[in-house]
Amino acid sequence: MSESVRVERDGDVALVIVNNPPVNALSWHVRQGLFDGITQATESGASAIVVICDGRTFIAGADISEFGGGAPQAVGLQEVQSAMEDAPVPVIAAIHGTALGGGLEVALCAHYRVSVASAKFGLPEVNLGLLPGAGGTQRLPRLVGVPKALEMMTTGRHISSAEAKEGGLVDDVVDSDSLDDLRAAAVAFANKAVDENMPRTRVRDRNELVEQHKGDEQTFADFRKGIARKTRGFLAPEYNIRCIEAAANLPFDEGLKVEGKLFMELMTGPQSAAQRYYFFAERAANKIPDIPKDTPLIDVQKVGVLGAGTMGGGIAMNFANVGIPVTIVERDQESLDRGLGVVRKNYERSRSTTPEQVEERMALITGSTDKADFADCDMVIEAVFEDMDLKKSIFKELDEICKPGALLASNTSALDVNEIAAVTSRPESVIGMHFFSPANVMKLLENVRGDKSSDSVVATTMAIGKKIKKVSVMVGVCPGFVGNRMLFMRGAEAERMLMEGATPAQVDNVLYEFGFPMGPFSMSDLAGLDIGWKEETSSSSTIREILCENGRRGQKNGRGYYTYDPDTRAATPDPEVEQLIKDFAISKGHEQREVSDQEILERLLYPMVNEGAKILEEKIAIRGSDIDVVWVNGYGWPVYRGGPMHWADSVGLAEIVEKIKGYSESLGGKHWTLSPLLEQLATDGGQLQTYTS
Ligand code: 3HC
Ligand code: NAI
Repeated sequence: MSESVRVERDGDVALVIVNNPPVNALSWHVRQGLFDGITQATESGASAIVVICDGRTFIAGADISEFGGGAPQAVGLQEVQSAMEDAPVPVIAAIHGTALGGGLEVALCAHYRVSVASAKFGLPEVNLGLLPGAGGTQRLPRLVGVPKALEMMTTGRHISSAEAKEGGLVDDVVDSDSLDDLRAAAVAFANKAVDENMPRTRVRDRNELVEQHKGDEQTFADFRKGIARKTRGFLAPEYNIRCIEAAANLPFDEGLKVEGKLFMELMTGPQSAAQRYYFFAERAANKIPDIPKDTPLIDVQKVGVLGAGTMGGGIAMNFANVGIPVTIVERDQESLDRGLGVVRKNYERSRSTTPEQVEERMALITGSTDKADFADCDMVIEAVFEDMDLKKSIFKELDEICKPGALLASNTSALDVNEIAAVTSRPESVIGMHFFSPANVMKLLENVRGDKSSDSVVATTMAIGKKIKKVSVMVGVCPGFVGNRMLFMRGAEAERMLMEGATPAQVDNVLYEFGFPMGPFSMSDLAGLDIGWKEETSSSSTIREILCENGRRGQKNGRGYYTYDPDTRAATPDPEVEQLIKDFAISKGHEQREVSDQEILERLLYPMVNEGAKILEEKIAIRGSDIDVVWVNGYGWPVYRGGPMHWADSVGLAEIVEKIKGYSESLGGKHWTLSPLLEQLATDGGQLQTYTS
């Protein structure tokens, strides 16, 4: 018997109990233990079997770290599942925490499922570039129906106990969150099943809900159409759909074969490798090596936000969403009213907030025009204009107003946090918290550690990020930090290629095809071409300025790098723009030529890889994978390509180094100066994604 699974008795009922912290993943010893436990329970003459877990959760899935080999051979999951399904006595799965992936697939092999009210259920394999490979694609639609299975498996969404009960996934929900109560309820359910001779129907034999969709091509076609935009470029959602189609059209065992084949294809492909890598990258980003785990945290009960503009309003929403009161201060009543109005509108427009929740959250946000109201805040986040002198004067004031020990953060997107901290008497309390726009939606929080930020301030910033459900990455001070610093390199090269004869649509399209939601010029149009542009001082020295001078301000006036349909907002390339660029380029002495898509891709992405390596050299990022987390969550890098560091490793660093040397020679420019670290890793056969600085 494995150490991670034990068998206990409660009267005639046997309990097979899994204990494999932290999340009871189905490591090889758990599979072996479950198989032995079920066998032992059956042989001991138990009247029924309850499968239950210790610790914080039911089985949260296969052990992802075992994927790709390396684990000792043990019984397969299918043998465990058959032992449960075919047991001569009722088997009940008792679920708390999260029953995810392989964990839910195990539960689907019990004859009945009982859960606590707070339990969650899901098949999140799609988010690892996979599909449920232990019969889940065939069993889930048999229990909850095809439409719900389609939705759950292509999004990976976790559903609540209430929803699971309503959908037929769970038979009984215990009105408590205690593991002891769950155990008692599951044993009671087991006794009832025995006493009442309840049927031991296997989910695999329940064909009614899938047969309804036999030959029903329409449902699947409509579903595919509905998710096409969201899942563009990803293989796994389509493969999940094909498995459910197989469940509808084929007998169970044939459907399983389809599942097995498609699972292997995904598992051995580059997308799932990237997404699994990314799963661990996000979790690694939480760890800051020199900050001890037991570092005392600042107790953040109340937050202040300065500035209710584009960023401040969204930042405030994050805290109100998790029940933390926020004081938001603006420079005058009019700006405050406008800012709070936008916050309210955002809540009202959101499908996930009920009218009562809108009021609850708005009640947590207090507006003011007096910074003195920050006096009782445990943390203040500054989000005023990006102007160093302004930020310095504001931090001087905050230093005087805020209570000792309060955390003082700046949302600057590129300025020197050390310089800001230096104007206060407490630089140890100052840190950067770079939210992304829209701040209530975007997952990334790029935290910027100043030279003097204290351990407690660093640890609190990471903890609060988790609390408000952000993906946090801690970086160091440099212009633009990690994300924008790399973005500048890409932008510079994009502009250069226009001067050589590429069109905005061609450049954007290369990135779109790579998997980004949009390219740099569509993005500029969206943000507005006239940010920072002043007609009277215009110098006609960039393409952007030329476009502004010609009345092209971006999407907001329907004309930018593209022309926009006033009704649909669809972008069309405009010959006038191409001519303007061409004339400008020629006037500056640039010869025009065809630029190939491959060259565009290399010239956009290789400078980013090079800059990423420099960022690691300078110890601005802790590890290569942190850079990937920034790019996936903040800039739309397609997660199925892992992030720029993972992607570079998959292309081959030696090849990239060769190309960078070539471009450096033909084009020049600081961003083409090869990073010594990149060259060294290429020579030694090292990797950027695993590099730790
Ligand atoms: N395998 C291995 N390790 C896992 C794991 C898994 N399935 N799930 C979580 N972990 C590890 C994490 O890496 C982390 O380790 P660390 O502390 O060393 O960094 C630790 O468990 C705790 O994880 P979180 O920090 O994510 O803890 P949370 O409490 O925030 O979340 C969770 C818990 C909701 C279970 C979340 O970890 C999660 O979503 N896990 C993945 C679930 C999943 O994708 N399951 C499907 C796996 S694929 C599968 O089952 C294939 C099958 O169909 C054959
Ligand atoms: P914004 O112009 O929309 O908002 C700034 C707000 O600050 C305005 O409402 C203004 O009235 C207010 N303000 C200015 N001076 C003030 C003062 N002395 N006291 C109180 N309020 C004052 O600007 P935005 O876009 O919200 O940017 C704010 C900060 O966030 C900047 O540092 C910017 O670099 C950064 N940032 C912006 C992002 C974006 O996409 N807009 C993304 C990430 C960071």
